[in-house]
Amino acid sequence: MIDDKTIEEVKQRADIVEVISDFVQLKKAGSNYKAISPFVDEKTPSFFVSPSKEIYKCFSSGKGGDAISFVMEFDGLSYLEAIKYLAEKYGIDIQEQEQTPEQILVQNERESIFIALNFAKEFYHDLLQNNTEGQSIGLSYFKERGYDLKTIEKFGLGYSLEEWDSFMSSALKKGFSEDILDKAGLIVKKEEGKVYDRFRGRVIFPIHNLTGKAIGFGARTLRKDKKVPKYVNSPESQVYHKSDVLYGMHLAKRFMRDQDNCFLVEGYTDVISMHLSGIENVVASSGTSLTDNQIKLIHRYTKNITVLFDGDAAGLKASLRGIDMILETDMNVRVVVFPEGEDPDSYSKKLGSTDFSDFLKNNAVDFIRFKAELLSNEASNDPIKKAETIKDIVHSISIIPDSVKRSVYIKETSDLLGIEESVLLSEQNKILIQKRKEKSKKAERETQDQLLQLNESGVKTIEESSISGEEIIALQEKETIRILYTYGADEFEEDDHIYDFILSELEEIDFKTQVYKEMLQLFKDHLDKGNVINAEYLVHNAPHHIKNEAVDMISEKYLLSKEWEDKFEIIVPDEKANLGKMVEGNILRLKFRLVQQMIDEKMDDIKRSNENTSHSEVEASLKQFNVLKQAEIQIAKQLGIVISK
Ligand code: CTP
Ligand code: MN
Repeated sequence: MIDDKTIEEVKQRADIVEVISDFVQLKKAGSNYKAISPFVDEKTPSFFVSPSKEIYKCFSSGKGGDAISFVMEFDGLSYLEAIKYLAEKYGIDIQEQEQTPEQILVQNERESIFIALNFAKEFYHDLLQNNTEGQSIGLSYFKERGYDLKTIEKFGLGYSLEEWDSFMSSALKKGFSEDILDKAGLIVKKEEGKVYDRFRGRVIFPIHNLTGKAIGFGARTLRKDKKVPKYVNSPESQVYHKSDVLYGMHLAKRFMRDQDNCFLVEGYTDVISMHLSGIENVVASSGTSLTDNQIKLIHRYTKNITVLFDGDAAGLKASLRGIDMILETDMNVRVVVFPEGEDPDSYSKKLGSTDFSDFLKNNAVDFIRFKAELLSNEASNDPIKKAETIKDIVHSISIIPDSVKRSVYIKETSDLLGIEESVLLSEQNKILIQKRKEKSKKAERETQDQLLQLNESGVKTIEESSISGEEIIALQEKETIRILYTYGADEFEEDDHIYDFILSELEEIDFKTQVYKEMLQLFKDHLDKGNVINAEYLVHNAPHHIKNEAVDMISEKYLLSKEWEDKFEIIVPDEKANLGKMVEGNILRLKFRLVQQMIDEKMDDIKRSNENTSHSEVEASLKQFNVLKQAEIQIAKQLGIVISK
């Protein structure tokens, strides 16, 4: 476990701009920094970092927080993992004691799974180097493939003995529970009660997350017989989600950024061979087709991807579809096809590093051109096939978000296939129009969401019919909490603070939204102890869900008002100038919404009444309804609103 002192030190030392710069290219914008969001696909930057407030905020995804939450979010780490990562980055010593079996038991589950996986990695690695079977079978196999000790170290390669439970019994002795080993995917539990090691008599390839921790394993058999599967892989677990992981990513990421390109290969051994040839910006999809999340992961580091294909034609055509997915994210895709029967592994060995690098350089062709050539060869003498080919290629082109790029490709394809540009363009337009239709529905919803955010401060009114009463109330509550945490300590009339006014007004009101309820209570609790806390305090000290809210409150309009002006052409008024009025207005609006909701509820009651409802009940409801209506009119008057109903 990490002690509080270390955590404190990490918090103090971690500079949010430095931390985020390791992952995202930040540009200075006034006193803040901005960037293209690492969480969503976008063209205009909506990701902001404020060094003075030590927070970041991504407007597109809504995510935000401090340096620690950024690392958690970006790398999918737990709180403790993020602390460890930052401690390492800043050279802060973590005194981690060797853990006793009791301590291992009380770790939280996720942490325990990580510890078990790391134990397994070391266990297999040790066997490979120091055990007789490991050396004579595993190590000699790797050596035969040309792996030197440095490479074996770099990838943490290992060997599992040809026994049923040598790993499990060691792990149990070490204090790991059977349950954790199971949840880590390291053992197999059969229904009949049999339990044994998942990996037996195989060489082990650890699979790492972005920060280089083992999250799973691929285990290759060394037997030639076709009956056993070539690889046994870790199953999905709490820490291993196959579709989000690329083999070799933890080593490749900084080279991908430096060289602004990512090589994509099929297997573990391809990645390792490329490293042996001095090429380190390489990852593998581990034999499956690329997923959306894997593409996004690469996209964080570079927009250029080079896919390496084995030289077998059948696999090639099947893979083309997957590449359209990459185009969609505006990446530049190139492909290299290897000679028949060769893959990166075999071919790099055949050529040696220098020639292999040259081969990659000289043979990488743009994907669209490659596809056009491939298909046109096939369809050269068949007019029907040719028509299909055109459609197919234009489809790929139309997926590319950048219109300039699209037009370049249309020209090129026209030359290549000998087809009039206008024919290709009209085909493209057909596809684009269809797509726009599908998209417009989604866009409509997104605009509504944006307006919703703006409404909180009354900066701009929106068609309220588009959101529900509850949502409006939540927004109003949020705004009240924001004011409380931003201006609570400011003066309100004579001798009073803003918080005095707000808290007394809220005495008769029950918040409906859980998180704002909690935040209100938190403020009161601290006040009882004589402390007025603010949003910045929450950003650095509150639980995660409250932290997020606090970040919103700090950043949303005021920190970034300049940005909002540019983006939405909305002038954010200086609210401090009219603080008293604003606070009163906010409380009134909150009450107004609550009263309206009560009116709606009463109305429903009255509508629901029937012959079984007693006369006095109906009478009472009507009376309450009228009282509420009066209240509504009163508040509306104060707010300067005219009500229609
Ligand atoms: N794979 C798998 N299960 C299998 C076969 C393959 O999970 N039964 C995955 C592995 O991630 C493997 C990749 O697909 O790395 C590519 O498969 P293949 O080319 O057969 O294996 P290599 O790792 O290249 O092994 P080798 O070079 O020894 O043939
Ligand atoms: Mn292979």
